[in-house]
Amino acid sequence: MPQNVFVDIHAHVLPGIDDGPKNLGDALALLRAAAGCGITTLAATPHVRSDFPEVRLEELAARVQALREEAERESIGVRIVGGAEVSLVWAVEASDDELVLASYGQRGKDLLIETPASAVAGLGQLLYRPRSRGLRVTLAHPERSPEFQRDPSQLEELVRQGILLQIDATALLAPRRSPARRLATRLCRDGLAHVIASDGHRAASWRPVTALADAVGVASEIVGPIRAQWMVCVTPAAILAGVALPNPPPVDREGGGALGRLRSRRRS
Ligand SMILES: [Fe+2]
Repeated sequence: MPQNVFVDIHAHVLPGIDDGPKNLGDALALLRAAAGCGITTLAATPHVRSDFPEVRLEELAARVQALREEAERESIGVRIVGGAEVSLVWAVEASDDELVLASYGQRGKDLLIETPASAVAGLGQLLYRPRSRGLRVTLAHPERSPEFQRDPSQLEELVRQGILLQIDATALLAPRRSPARRLATRLCRDGLAHVIASDGHRAASWRPVTALADAVGVASEIVGPIRAQWMVCVTPAAILAGVALPNPPPVDREGGGALGRLRSRRRS
């Protein structure tokens, strides 16, 4: 039985429709790996954007249910919640009904939006469009954006406006000097990151779902174990439930103390 339990709001687990698992066997392998590393709940968030035409909103609920039934048959103890990772362009143009279909659990409360790869003028204003229709927005992996790497202050403003930030676990596991790890570390340390998620695409190798469990140790060294647990369990659970976030525990900048920092240095 894993010591920690994790709630993962970002995973590409539905087979054969985006760049996640190619088939059902690989999807079940991803779920088994998730269960094995302590993930108890996982959101299926396929890409909703023009280069993945196989992802059709009206089919998502049935696809999630079919995967749930297969996982149950295999006795894999991971709860699967429906969702999507939508592009900014899609989110701005979508109808109210489409936004609901793409939201977590299709309850019309929380929406995961992919951080655009290139700079976007007026991002806050664009994000306001889905927010003005009652959706709380979580921005996926802002640390990968060269624009935010150059100017992280923009993210402070977005957080001030009520946007939630989701860091990819793999960013915290990247080489210490990589721009994505530097920004992810800074966002955690400054208390701006709300969630760490796997953004898992496979059971192992490429973007493994198990990175989430591996990243928790690194996060604990940056912000302390209590704040880290808030980012991998408490906050993601609130997002999937569509309820207010519990108050964040303070960031413990000493993290795991001297021993933790030494471990962190060895890992990089
Ligand atoms: Fe993703």
